[in-house]
Amino acid sequence: MRPKVLVTRKLPAEALEQLEKHCDVDLNEADRPLTRQELMRRIRDKDGILSMLTDRIDGELMDAGPNLKVISNYAVGFNNIDVKEATRRGIPVTNTPGVLTESTADLTWALIMDAARRVSEGDRATRAGRWPGWSPMWMLGRDVHGATLGIIGMGRIGRAVARRARGFDMRVIYFSRTRLPEEEERALRASYCPLQELLRQADFVSLHAPYSEATHHLIGPEELAMMKPTAYLINTARGPLVDEQALVRALREGQIAGAGLDVYEREPELAEGLAELDNVVLSPHLGSSTWQTRLQMARLAVDNLLAVLQGRRPPHLVNEAVWPRK
Ligand code: DGY
Repeated sequence: MRPKVLVTRKLPAEALEQLEKHCDVDLNEADRPLTRQELMRRIRDKDGILSMLTDRIDGELMDAGPNLKVISNYAVGFNNIDVKEATRRGIPVTNTPGVLTESTADLTWALIMDAARRVSEGDRATRAGRWPGWSPMWMLGRDVHGATLGIIGMGRIGRAVARRARGFDMRVIYFSRTRLPEEEERALRASYCPLQELLRQADFVSLHAPYSEATHHLIGPEELAMMKPTAYLINTARGPLVDEQALVRALREGQIAGAGLDVYEREPELAEGLAELDNVVLSPHLGSSTWQTRLQMARLAVDNLLAVLQGRRPPHLVNEAVWPRK
Protein backbone atom coordinates (compact mmCIF):
# COMPACT_ATOMS: atom_id res chain seq x y z
CA MET A 1 0.00 0.00 0.00
CA ARG A 2 1.37 3.41 -0.95
CA PRO A 3 1.28 5.97 1.86
CA LYS A 4 -1.14 8.89 1.47
CA VAL A 5 0.20 12.40 1.94
CA LEU A 6 -1.35 15.85 1.99
CA VAL A 7 0.67 18.68 0.45
CA THR A 8 -0.96 21.91 1.53
CA ARG A 9 0.38 24.22 -1.24
CA LYS A 10 1.86 23.82 -4.73
CA LEU A 11 5.62 23.22 -4.68
CA PRO A 12 8.31 23.11 -7.37
CA ALA A 13 7.37 20.29 -9.78
CA GLU A 14 10.61 18.36 -9.39
CA ALA A 15 10.03 17.81 -5.66
CA LEU A 16 6.39 16.85 -6.15
CA GLU A 17 7.35 14.32 -8.83
CA GLN A 18 9.79 12.71 -6.40
CA LEU A 19 7.05 12.45 -3.79
CA GLU A 20 4.56 11.04 -6.31
CA LYS A 21 6.97 8.20 -7.11
CA HIS A 22 6.43 6.84 -3.61
CA CYS A 23 3.13 8.20 -2.32
CA ASP A 24 -0.45 9.03 -3.27
CA VAL A 25 -0.38 12.80 -3.13
CA ASP A 26 -3.38 14.95 -2.28
CA LEU A 27 -2.21 18.37 -3.44
CA ASN A 28 -3.97 21.64 -2.67
CA GLU A 29 -4.12 23.02 -6.22
CA ALA A 30 -5.65 26.32 -5.12
CA ASP A 31 -3.28 29.25 -4.83
CA ARG A 32 -4.25 29.94 -1.21
CA PRO A 33 -3.88 28.19 2.14
CA LEU A 34 -6.42 25.49 2.96
CA THR A 35 -9.12 26.64 5.35
CA ARG A 36 -9.25 24.99 8.76
CA GLN A 37 -12.23 22.90 7.66
CA GLU A 38 -10.51 21.76 4.48
CA LEU A 39 -7.39 20.86 6.41
CA MET A 40 -9.41 18.90 8.98
CA ARG A 41 -11.24 17.02 6.23
CA ARG A 42 -8.26 16.27 4.01
CA ILE A 43 -6.00 15.06 6.84
CA ARG A 44 -8.44 12.26 7.78
CA ASP A 45 -6.87 9.37 5.84
CA LYS A 46 -3.31 10.72 5.54
CA ASP A 47 -0.05 9.12 6.68
CA GLY A 48 1.92 12.32 6.25
CA ILE A 49 1.51 16.05 5.78
CA LEU A 50 3.82 18.48 4.03
CA SER A 51 2.74 21.70 5.72
CA MET A 52 3.40 25.42 5.30
CA LEU A 53 4.08 27.96 8.05
CA THR A 54 0.54 29.25 7.46
CA ASP A 55 -1.03 25.90 8.49
CA ARG A 56 -1.85 25.51 12.18
CA ILE A 57 -0.97 21.93 13.10
CA ASP A 58 -2.29 21.36 16.61
CA GLY A 59 -3.72 18.53 18.71
CA GLU A 60 -7.16 18.93 17.17
CA LEU A 61 -5.76 18.44 13.68
CA MET A 62 -3.71 15.45 14.83
CA ASP A 63 -6.93 13.97 16.26
CA ALA A 64 -8.57 14.46 12.87
CA GLY A 65 -5.74 12.49 11.20
CA PRO A 66 -5.37 9.34 13.30
CA ASN A 67 -2.96 7.73 10.77
CA LEU A 68 -0.55 10.68 10.77
CA LYS A 69 3.06 9.48 11.00
CA VAL A 70 5.02 12.57 10.00
CA ILE A 71 4.66 16.36 9.86
CA SER A 72 7.14 17.83 7.40
CA ASN A 73 7.17 21.62 7.59
CA TYR A 74 8.24 23.61 4.53
CA ALA A 75 10.15 26.18 6.64
CA VAL A 76 12.95 26.37 9.12
CA GLY A 77 10.58 27.92 11.70
CA PHE A 78 7.99 25.54 13.15
CA ASN A 79 6.01 27.73 15.54
CA ASN A 80 2.86 26.83 13.54
CA ILE A 81 3.12 23.29 14.91
CA ASP A 82 2.33 22.10 18.42
CA VAL A 83 5.56 20.12 18.70
CA LYS A 84 4.86 19.06 22.30
CA GLU A 85 1.61 17.49 21.21
CA ALA A 86 3.24 15.77 18.22
CA THR A 87 5.99 14.43 20.49
CA ARG A 88 3.46 13.12 23.00
CA ARG A 89 1.90 11.15 20.14
CA GLY A 90 5.29 9.99 18.82
CA ILE A 91 4.88 11.89 15.52
CA PRO A 92 8.17 13.16 14.05
CA VAL A 93 8.19 16.85 13.09
CA THR A 94 10.76 17.97 10.52
CA ASN A 95 11.89 21.34 9.11
CA THR A 96 14.17 22.75 6.39
CA PRO A 97 17.16 24.48 8.01
CA GLY A 98 20.37 25.39 6.22
CA VAL A 99 19.08 25.71 2.66
CA LEU A 100 17.43 29.08 3.26
CA THR A 101 20.15 30.65 5.40
CA GLU A 102 21.90 32.68 2.72
CA SER A 103 18.72 33.90 0.97
CA THR A 104 17.27 35.08 4.26
CA ALA A 105 20.52 36.84 5.14
CA ASP A 106 20.46 38.53 1.70
CA LEU A 107 16.91 39.75 2.30
CA THR A 108 17.90 41.05 5.73
CA TRP A 109 20.54 43.13 4.03
CA ALA A 110 18.05 44.37 1.43
CA LEU A 111 15.95 45.72 4.33
CA ILE A 112 18.94 47.22 6.16
CA MET A 113 20.02 49.06 3.02
CA ASP A 114 16.51 50.07 2.01
CA ALA A 115 15.52 51.39 5.45
CA ALA A 116 18.77 53.31 5.99
CA ARG A 117 19.02 54.76 2.48
CA ARG A 118 15.29 55.29 1.97
CA VAL A 119 15.18 53.45 -1.36
CA SER A 120 11.50 52.42 -1.29
CA GLU A 121 10.45 55.77 0.14
CA GLY A 122 12.43 57.54 -2.59
CA ASP A 123 10.93 55.25 -5.23
CA ARG A 124 7.42 56.18 -4.07
CA ALA A 125 8.25 59.89 -4.14
CA THR A 126 9.87 59.67 -7.59
CA ARG A 127 6.96 57.80 -9.16
CA ALA A 128 4.49 60.23 -7.62
CA GLY A 129 6.28 63.22 -9.15
CA ARG A 130 7.33 64.47 -5.72
CA TRP A 131 11.06 64.56 -6.53
CA PRO A 132 12.10 68.22 -6.44
CA GLY A 133 15.34 67.40 -8.33
CA TRP A 134 18.75 66.93 -6.70
CA SER A 135 18.64 68.66 -3.41
CA PRO A 136 21.29 69.05 -0.70
CA MET A 137 19.03 68.28 2.24
CA TRP A 138 16.36 65.99 0.76
CA MET A 139 15.89 62.31 1.66
CA LEU A 140 18.95 62.06 3.83
CA GLY A 141 19.43 58.63 5.30
CA ARG A 142 22.08 57.04 7.51
CA ASP A 143 25.36 55.35 6.64
CA VAL A 144 25.42 51.59 6.83
CA HIS A 145 29.19 51.25 6.41
CA GLY A 146 31.06 51.70 9.63
CA ALA A 147 27.89 51.47 11.75
CA THR A 148 27.22 49.05 14.61
CA LEU A 149 25.09 46.03 13.79
CA GLY A 150 23.36 44.32 16.72
CA ILE A 151 22.27 40.76 15.97
CA ILE A 152 19.76 39.08 18.27
CA GLY A 153 19.91 35.31 17.75
CA MET A 154 23.24 34.07 16.45
CA GLY A 155 22.09 30.86 14.75
CA ARG A 156 22.77 30.04 11.11
CA ILE A 157 20.98 33.11 9.71
CA GLY A 158 22.37 35.51 12.33
CA ARG A 159 25.88 34.34 11.49
CA ALA A 160 25.29 34.70 7.74
CA VAL A 161 24.12 38.28 8.35
CA ALA A 162 27.25 38.93 10.44
CA ARG A 163 29.52 37.60 7.68
CA ARG A 164 28.06 40.08 5.21
CA ALA A 165 28.66 42.94 7.67
CA ARG A 166 32.42 42.55 7.24
CA GLY A 167 32.09 43.90 3.71
CA PHE A 168 30.60 47.06 5.18
CA ASP A 169 33.32 47.49 7.83
CA MET A 170 30.73 47.29 10.55
CA ARG A 171 31.20 46.60 14.21
CA VAL A 172 29.11 43.54 15.04
CA ILE A 173 27.70 42.84 18.49
CA TYR A 174 25.33 39.98 19.24
CA PHE A 175 23.06 38.53 21.87
CA SER A 176 22.08 34.88 21.78
CA ARG A 177 20.93 32.06 24.05
CA THR A 178 24.30 30.41 23.57
CA ARG A 179 27.52 32.30 23.24
CA LEU A 180 29.65 31.33 20.22
CA PRO A 181 33.05 29.73 20.77
CA GLU A 182 35.81 32.37 20.91
CA GLU A 183 37.29 31.17 17.65
CA GLU A 184 34.01 31.73 15.80
CA GLU A 185 33.51 35.15 17.39
CA ARG A 186 36.96 36.07 16.11
CA ALA A 187 36.26 34.76 12.60
CA LEU A 188 33.01 36.74 12.43
CA ARG A 189 34.56 39.72 14.20
CA ALA A 190 31.50 39.72 16.47
CA SER A 191 31.42 40.33 20.20
CA TYR A 192 28.86 39.06 22.68
CA CYS A 193 26.79 41.74 24.38
CA PRO A 194 23.92 41.58 26.92
CA LEU A 195 20.55 42.37 25.28
CA GLN A 196 19.96 45.77 26.89
CA GLU A 197 23.47 46.92 26.09
CA LEU A 198 23.06 45.79 22.49
CA LEU A 199 19.83 47.77 22.17
CA ARG A 200 21.57 50.89 23.50
CA GLN A 201 24.61 50.60 21.25
CA ALA A 202 23.40 49.25 17.89
CA ASP A 203 22.61 51.41 14.87
CA PHE A 204 20.83 48.42 13.32
CA VAL A 205 19.13 45.81 15.49
CA SER A 206 18.42 42.67 13.46
CA LEU A 207 16.27 39.83 14.82
CA HIS A 208 17.14 36.19 14.10
CA ALA A 209 15.80 34.40 17.16
CA PRO A 210 13.26 31.58 16.90
CA TYR A 211 9.74 32.42 18.04
CA SER A 212 8.31 30.68 21.09
CA GLU A 213 6.33 31.68 24.19
CA ALA A 214 9.64 32.72 25.72
CA THR A 215 10.47 35.14 22.90
CA HIS A 216 6.95 36.58 22.46
CA HIS A 217 7.30 40.40 22.21
CA LEU A 218 11.03 40.20 22.85
CA ILE A 219 11.00 43.75 21.50
CA GLY A 220 8.29 45.78 23.21
CA PRO A 221 7.92 49.40 24.37
CA GLU A 222 10.75 49.20 26.90
CA GLU A 223 13.22 47.70 24.46
CA LEU A 224 12.29 50.22 21.75
CA ALA A 225 12.85 53.01 24.28
CA MET A 226 16.38 51.73 24.85
CA MET A 227 17.28 52.04 21.16
CA LYS A 228 18.95 55.15 19.79
CA PRO A 229 16.67 57.65 18.02
CA THR A 230 18.92 57.14 14.97
CA ALA A 231 18.65 53.34 15.02
CA TYR A 232 16.69 50.89 12.84
CA LEU A 233 14.92 47.66 13.75
CA ILE A 234 15.03 44.84 11.19
CA ASN A 235 12.89 41.70 11.52
CA THR A 236 13.15 38.79 9.09
CA ALA A 237 12.52 36.11 11.74
CA ARG A 238 8.96 35.93 13.08
CA GLY A 239 6.41 38.75 13.52
CA PRO A 240 5.39 38.14 17.14
CA LEU A 241 8.96 38.70 18.33
CA VAL A 242 7.98 42.37 18.09
CA ASP A 243 5.05 44.15 19.70
CA GLU A 244 3.87 45.64 16.41
CA GLN A 245 1.62 48.27 17.97
CA ALA A 246 4.46 49.50 20.17
CA LEU A 247 6.64 49.63 17.06
CA VAL A 248 4.07 51.76 15.21
CA ARG A 249 4.10 54.21 18.13
CA ALA A 250 7.91 54.28 18.27
CA LEU A 251 8.16 54.92 14.52
CA ARG A 252 5.44 57.56 14.55
CA GLU A 253 6.96 59.44 17.48
CA GLY A 254 10.51 59.23 16.10
CA GLN A 255 11.67 57.17 19.06
CA ILE A 256 13.69 55.16 16.52
CA ALA A 257 14.67 56.21 12.99
CA GLY A 258 13.05 53.40 11.07
CA ALA A 259 12.42 49.73 10.54
CA GLY A 260 12.57 47.02 7.90
CA LEU A 261 10.05 44.23 8.34
CA ASP A 262 9.55 41.00 6.43
CA VAL A 263 7.32 39.32 9.01
CA TYR A 264 4.27 40.46 10.99
CA GLU A 265 2.30 39.52 14.07
CA ARG A 266 -0.86 38.47 12.19
CA GLU A 267 0.22 37.86 8.60
CA PRO A 268 -0.96 39.02 6.15
CA GLU A 269 -2.61 41.71 8.33
CA LEU A 270 -0.62 44.70 9.47
CA ALA A 271 -0.93 46.56 12.76
CA GLU A 272 -3.06 49.67 12.43
CA GLY A 273 -1.07 52.62 11.18
CA LEU A 274 1.98 50.64 10.04
CA ALA A 275 1.31 50.97 6.31
CA GLU A 276 0.86 54.76 6.61
CA LEU A 277 4.36 55.30 7.96
CA ASP A 278 7.14 56.34 5.60
CA ASN A 279 10.01 55.29 7.86
CA VAL A 280 9.33 51.58 7.57
CA VAL A 281 10.04 49.21 4.70
CA LEU A 282 7.49 46.41 4.45
CA SER A 283 8.25 43.26 2.50
CA PRO A 284 5.76 40.38 2.36
CA HIS A 285 7.61 37.48 4.09
CA LEU A 286 10.12 37.09 1.25
CA GLY A 287 13.07 35.75 3.29
CA SER A 288 13.40 32.43 1.49
CA SER A 289 11.59 33.34 -1.72
CA THR A 290 14.10 32.71 -4.47
CA TRP A 291 13.70 30.02 -7.14
CA GLN A 292 16.85 28.25 -5.98
CA THR A 293 16.02 28.28 -2.28
CA ARG A 294 12.38 27.28 -2.62
CA LEU A 295 13.46 24.30 -4.76
CA GLN A 296 15.98 23.22 -2.14
CA MET A 297 13.41 23.63 0.63
CA ALA A 298 10.94 21.49 -1.32
CA ARG A 299 13.55 18.77 -1.91
CA LEU A 300 14.44 18.75 1.76
CA ALA A 301 10.81 18.70 2.93
CA VAL A 302 10.16 15.74 0.60
CA ASP A 303 13.32 13.93 1.80
CA ASN A 304 12.25 14.44 5.41
CA LEU A 305 8.76 13.13 4.72
CA LEU A 306 9.84 10.09 2.70
CA ALA A 307 12.54 9.17 5.21
CA VAL A 308 10.02 8.83 8.04
CA LEU A 309 7.47 6.99 5.90
CA GLN A 310 10.20 4.56 4.81
CA GLY A 311 11.38 4.00 8.38
CA ARG A 312 14.59 6.04 8.11
CA ARG A 313 15.67 8.88 10.39
CA PRO A 314 14.82 12.15 8.59
CA PRO A 315 17.67 14.56 7.77
CA HIS A 316 16.13 17.30 9.95
CA LEU A 317 14.16 16.10 12.92
CA VAL A 318 12.82 18.78 15.29
CA ASN A 319 11.63 16.49 18.12
CA GLU A 320 14.55 14.16 18.79
CA ALA A 321 12.59 12.44 21.58
CA VAL A 322 10.45 10.50 19.07
CA TRP A 323 13.42 8.73 17.46
CA PRO A 324 13.98 5.82 17.20
CA ARG A 325 10.29 5.16 16.75
CA LYS A 326 8.67 2.78 19.19
C1 DGY B 1 11.08 29.90 7.39
O1 DGY B 1 11.55 28.94 6.75
O2 DGY B 1 10.83 29.83 8.59
C2 DGY B 1 10.82 31.13 6.61
O3 DGY B 1 10.15 32.07 7.35
C3 DGY B 1 10.07 30.74 5.33
O4 DGY B 1 10.12 31.78 4.44
